[in-house]
Amino acid sequence: MTRIALVGSGKVAWQLGKRLTDKGFAVSQVLSRTAEHARSLAEALHATWSDQWSDILPDTDWILIAIRDDVIGVVAEELSHHAPGALATHTSGATPGTVLAPFFKRNGVFYPLQTFSQERRPNWSEIPICVDASTKQDLDVMLHIADKIGQKAYIIDDTQRAQLHVAAVFANNFSNHCFVIAEKILEEKGLSFELLHPLMQETLAKALEQSPFAMQTGPALRGDQDTMQRHLQLLEQHPDWQQVYRLISESIEKEHSS
Ligand SMILES: NC(=O)c1ccc[n+]([C@@H]2O[C@H](COP(=O)([O-])OP(=O)(O)OC[C@H]3O[C@@H](n4cnc5c(N)ncnc54)[C@H](OP(=O)(O)O)[C@@H]3O)[C@@H](O)[C@H]2O)c1
Repeated sequence: MTRIALVGSGKVAWQLGKRLTDKGFAVSQVLSRTAEHARSLAEALHATWSDQWSDILPDTDWILIAIRDDVIGVVAEELSHHAPGALATHTSGATPGTVLAPFFKRNGVFYPLQTFSQERRPNWSEIPICVDASTKQDLDVMLHIADKIGQKAYIIDDTQRAQLHVAAVFANNFSNHCFVIAEKILEEKGLSFELLHPLMQETLAKALEQSPFAMQTGPALRGDQDTMQRHLQLLEQHPDWQQVYRLISESIEKEHSS
């Protein structure tokens, strides 16, 4: 992989671009819809840049697409007119690798299973990377690169990755949203969110050490109906949060009654 083109300039493109470069897989070109975004990432990676898909170098070896899920196909089609021989992969957990197949004979997925933000430097040595490719040769290359930059490479097919992604939405996106609600509840009453930090840390530590199912506590598990009614009253200014409270409480009750 001597010529790598990074497509996109968002959170994943920045973090992956920097990690690849640090590990000796130099990114030669950054392509992104917004010129300013492409330029600034390219400067950080010492690469060339463009906001035109047609500028992709025809002898590109690997096109790494890290853009919004629902535009991967259309952008891949554009790129394929100019570098049809390249291996094209995307970084999406939720999107099948087959979205690239109509446009690139050599296609695959390079999905780092972590939550990325611009502000936070990820600990790549702990990040599993899920890879897949349409040819054995490309799969071997993806495995090699993933092993170098992440914790470990895993061969995960489209069906498995879809399941993994929905589980990741619960483990990260939904749990984080619950933290957001908790923070707002405290903010409204002038209390510091820091009061909850030890509880949040212990929750995660227990879930990692033991089975999260076995570690469940709280009024829904105990069947404390009066407490739950009082909580729902406290949330009456926030019908959306009441709904979340009811749904999750019912789910806890069901899981533990079966
Ligand atoms: N964030 C995560 O934690 C995470 C983790 C693993 C995998 N992923 C996957 O990685 C991919 C990128 O996610 P991200 O979090 O990096 O997204 P992001 O920070 O929101 O960046 C989105 C990127 O998509 C581009 N884009 C948006 N609309 C477009 C359009 N209509 N045409 C062309 N490009 C468009 C943007 O380009 P411009 O900025 O140039 O406009 C930007 O580079 C997604 O497939 C996502 O599922 C994300």
